[in-house]
Amino acid sequence: MQASYRSQADRVVIIATGGTIAGTASRAAEALDYRAAQLSIGELLGGIPSLAGRSIDTEQLAMIDSKDMDHAVWRTLVPRVQWHLARPDVAGIVVTHGTDTLEETAYLLQRTLAPVKPVVLTAAMRPATSVQADGPQNLLDAITLATEHGACGVLAVLAGRVHAALDVRKIHTYRLDAFGSGDAGPLAVIEAGRLRRFREWPRGSALGAELLQSDPWPRVEIVTSHAGADGLLVDTLVALGVDGIVAAGTGNGSLHHALEAALRRAMAQGVAVRCTTRVPEGLVRLTAADALPVSLAASPQQARIELLLELLARR
Ligand code: SIN
Repeated sequence: MQASYRSQADRVVIIATGGTIAGTASRAAEALDYRAAQLSIGELLGGIPSLAGRSIDTEQLAMIDSKDMDHAVWRTLVPRVQWHLARPDVAGIVVTHGTDTLEETAYLLQRTLAPVKPVVLTAAMRPATSVQADGPQNLLDAITLATEHGACGVLAVLAGRVHAALDVRKIHTYRLDAFGSGDAGPLAVIEAGRLRRFREWPRGSALGAELLQSDPWPRVEIVTSHAGADGLLVDTLVALGVDGIVAAGTGNGSLHHALEAALRRAMAQGVAVRCTTRVPEGLVRLTAADALPVSLAASPQQARIELLLELLARR
């Protein structure tokens, strides 16, 4: 009898949500003028013959361009991922997604589930019909990662680079290698189907998917500090009943004085305010002069999710 070194759980569940990875264009040379979210996960897998015979379950959870990601999809996605993770036969989960808001979904999944099995988001920068289609290799790499022994946490894999959910950001509008992990750098690379890892798998405590069942969610908006920012937007949001505001400041989180004054007025009326930076890399470092509460999340989008979760937890 042959010895088996594979863990018993080798099944991967692919939860598909749409995106360019499932997109189509009228011509194979077309890289920009295409429609995202046209092909089902079954059709995408059908185009990858090397996956024949693999233990893969699929679930078409949504069919959207991820610019349109919303709280309703998130409220469905997070418990589905949690449910599949609890199955003893499942090694890991792959979520196919659009690139545009992938980092937000990854962040939400990590903060709510902090899974002890890998949950791997993947996407593509070219539609499935393109001569440059990057989806099939990204999907193969995601499946490799989802079955990697000992892997855990929410991860993203694109263009052969593996990013941790709390670090990953889309940093380029067009090139195939469009994602980065800022100062942390990628967690690993996958080369010809083999993983080369540089850092530990991400771990953390889970806030719990139950938090998300509350309906409706608090309204949290992002405003940016810029030349001429006069705070009108903040005053308007407060008048409309917003629950939280994330301010994307300049540099180390600094704010136009008029915007800062408006944010102070908002806080005085009970609105939760968090400051972050519009600068793509680096964190806001706390200083004695910090006038308003600073978010420790790296980007305004992450800070928004963090504040949403905080407000949900207060209910
Ligand atoms: C999307 O985010 O769904 C469209 C863009 C992409 O996937 O690259």
